Amino acid sequence: TAPARTFATTPPQHGLDDVGAASLDWPRLGFDFQKTNGFVKHTWVNGKWDDGEWEPEPFLKLHVMSAAIHYGQGVYEGAKAHHCKDGSVRLWNIQANAHRMLEGCERMMMPAVPPEMFIRACEWCVAANRAYIPPYGTGGALYLRPYIFGHGPQLGLSAAPQFHFCVLAMPVSSYYAGGLQPIDVLVAHDADRAAPQGVGHVKASGNYGSDIRVSIDARAEGYPTVLYLDPKEKRYIEEFSVSNFIGIKDNTYVTPDSPTILRSATNDMLMDLAASDAFGMKVERRPVDVAELGDFREVAGCGTAVVMMGVKSITNQNTVHRYESIERVEALYNHYRAIQFGEKPDPFGWGTVC
Ligand code: COI
Repeated sequence: TAPARTFATTPPQHGLDDVGAASLDWPRLGFDFQKTNGFVKHTWVNGKWDDGEWEPEPFLKLHVMSAAIHYGQGVYEGAKAHHCKDGSVRLWNIQANAHRMLEGCERMMMPAVPPEMFIRACEWCVAANRAYIPPYGTGGALYLRPYIFGHGPQLGLSAAPQFHFCVLAMPVSSYYAGGLQPIDVLVAHDADRAAPQGVGHVKASGNYGSDIRVSIDARAEGYPTVLYLDPKEKRYIEEFSVSNFIGIKDNTYVTPDSPTILRSATNDMLMDLAASDAFGMKVERRPVDVAELGDFREVAGCGTAVVMMGVKSITNQNTVHRYESIERVEALYNHYRAIQFGEKPDPFGWGTVC
């Protein structure tokens, strides 16, 4: 195991009180806001990023006409750091998040966040919030929320005059109360997640705003989440509300390919794991016809926040598809989690000690 690296470039940290950490019930945190020691804030000034500063309170002072508020010029990421078995703290596949944000910045006309700056800000935020990283054995993680958005005085529709890139950190446990425990899903027929040639492939904040009503309505009907179909033909599976779709039949791991899906970093890792010698599965990323819902033996969702979510049933209009097993899903989940927590070797190099 790599030795814990001292955080040589830790800039001054103000207001690090660690106070709230003492009262946290780690296994029962769920996925909620928790106040921590603070966050990192970079500002785009005179055509370049500054060195960043530490903000102890969870507030920003923004111009009322900020583009992020009015025109949705913002992109965010979700990443995690874990306390591992050997006592180290590891950031999880942070390079993937840094590169995905670059694509979002480009599409949404925001200045590129250089991956080195992105990663350094994440390391800084983890170092300054170390007391809030759930202890090894509790199953939790420090969830990182890097985000970039446009702000400043503006009325006409254009790129904002100013930008911030921030990284926040909050301790979390499971996204869904039951963790991997399978849930019932409803296919969304009266709503699309993203438009053809829109911004569905980047993590634009507005993609999530449009899902709020759809998800709340589904929950009221007893479905913890929804599954979206492609916006053009309503024929192909896209993704769940906040996670990618995985279907398993025989020894094959199937996940949808579509230009309107947000490509999940967790899905990419799970595909590598499924194809590795440990599982020896065939992996297919291809358009998945909704008619195939009846062919899968197991179905799951995956993403940074949910990690993996088991699926018990999918209701598609008048047809209910039931999935009796999560055997392969559970095996993948357990192996993936064991790598995350440093209990199994990490042949892919996903974790980096910070
Ligand atoms: C994540 O998985 O990190 C996400 O961004 C989804 C979010 C709605 C929690």
